[in-house]
Amino acid sequence: MTHDDHEWWRTAVIYQVYPRSFADADGDGTGDLRGITARLEHVADLGADAIWLSPFYPSPQADGGYDVADYRDVDPRYGDLQDADDLLERAHTLGLRVVVDLVPNHCSDQHTLFRRALAAPPGSPERALFHFRDGGGPGGDEPPNDWESMFQGPAWTRVTEADGTPGQWYLHLFAPEQPDWNWDDRRVHDEFETTLRFWLDRGVDGFRVDVCDAIVKAPGLPDWPHATHGVVEPVDGVMPPMWDQEGIHDVFRAWRRILDEYEGPRILCAEAWLPPERAARIVRPDEMHQAFNFAYLSLPWDAAAIRDTVDTSLAANTAVGAPTTWVLSNHDVMRHASRFGYDGPVELESGVGVDDPQPDRALGLRRARAATLVMLGLPGSAYLYQGEELGLPEVTTLPDDVRQDPVWERSGHRTRGRDGCRVPLPWTADGPSFGFGASADTWLPQPEDFGTFAVAEQTGDPASTLELYRAALAFRASSGLAAGELRWLEERGTADAGLLAWTTGPVTVVANTGTAPVALPAGTIVLRSVPDAVTEGMLAPDAAVWIRA
Ligand code: GLC
Repeated sequence: MTHDDHEWWRTAVIYQVYPRSFADADGDGTGDLRGITARLEHVADLGADAIWLSPFYPSPQADGGYDVADYRDVDPRYGDLQDADDLLERAHTLGLRVVVDLVPNHCSDQHTLFRRALAAPPGSPERALFHFRDGGGPGGDEPPNDWESMFQGPAWTRVTEADGTPGQWYLHLFAPEQPDWNWDDRRVHDEFETTLRFWLDRGVDGFRVDVCDAIVKAPGLPDWPHATHGVVEPVDGVMPPMWDQEGIHDVFRAWRRILDEYEGPRILCAEAWLPPERAARIVRPDEMHQAFNFAYLSLPWDAAAIRDTVDTSLAANTAVGAPTTWVLSNHDVMRHASRFGYDGPVELESGVGVDDPQPDRALGLRRARAATLVMLGLPGSAYLYQGEELGLPEVTTLPDDVRQDPVWERSGHRTRGRDGCRVPLPWTADGPSFGFGASADTWLPQPEDFGTFAVAEQTGDPASTLELYRAALAFRASSGLAAGELRWLEERGTADAGLLAWTTGPVTVVANTGTAPVALPAGTIVLRSVPDAVTEGMLAPDAAVWIRA
């Protein structure tokens, strides 16, 4: 297989920018597009191939911008369309491609079409764009079915009709401010096709498609008395009626045809929390290009589990001719430098409060650095989340009264949610917000020690996490390892003792998740996850190396 420019996405390293928290050019405490543009050199220097921008569209921010009020504009907090064009131009000049977020499952309750639906009567064409239903029980007081919102509580909210009477209910798999579109209505397809073309015409290189596996619901919206957390598995062989229904694939095929009309290739990446064999059906040759590997993201620091998921992921994707992607962190889960600082399983999205057990920071970072060499040493494409290159921990000490994740309120203050991975980035050791912007009053407060993780602090320090990422990305690119084929060096059983060892292209990757040192194969070590990774030919626990064969 050749990996020319046309196939860039097969081996790409794609860096996620969360616009609210990357860099603040106008000093209002919230990140913005001009801030991103000014700091893009950091991403280029890191060696990434592309950025993925989380939503920057007009939004009341009920769910950090994943409640989109207008798909074809920029929220004034983040700038305007000119700023988006400037960002694209700067990125392209630096050799970075730009992927934007498409949110097709739901919009904001402030979207014009939803406002019109609310003002229109039951049974109207305006309401048919969403899932409006009469309630159950006497007086229609009960939700139409038993579905749970992903942010807890019922997935239905009752509206008040124009005449002031309690009325129909509408479906929202997420917050009540995020009504689900009805993809059984052709006009919804047209809306999104227009949006795709709008951004493609402006020059974006692709779309990360938010909860794309939820857009089509099972006919009749049958009850489903099971909550969904993490990767969605079938129950008794049946997929839940709101996830991974067959109808999604025709939508993706139509989008793919649109993207293929453009010079490119422009890419589609599926956000779908599905097991590898189900996610692989979305990346068949005429559908999307990539799907996030959430099975991989969900893994503990454990060689046997990693090996099994690497095998099932590669097998599932190779069978359909798609690259496998790898990811450790994003804006929805506890940062992996903290996740790996706990022994035992961790709830990915639940968050940590100041009174909860705290992670072991040193251990978490040590394992995170090894996990990075594991991930970047696998063939395929990898996603990075802003700040992981700094070894940033989850902020586990946020005061509860600053929390913004809707799940915190929806859960009656039981689930803290995802704010801890969304705290604004530190760029310099000091300054009002460690170089994030001119205001010290950032939308989520930064901890006092954040400056020690700053980009400027780590630059040039060969032992820093940032320089490890830079070196790994540079070697990954020059060696061609991401286009290689994975071959395990040892029998499967060695993984039970914590040993992972494989070759891809000219590189051998060895990692040790166990508690005792392991012997390394011969060859020149080109990268070590931590300075003390190797002593007398033995690889220390919680460490990894890359060796040139
Ligand atoms: C995706 C996003 C997440 C958001 C949800 C609803 O999972 O990554 O941040 O809350 O969709 O849009």
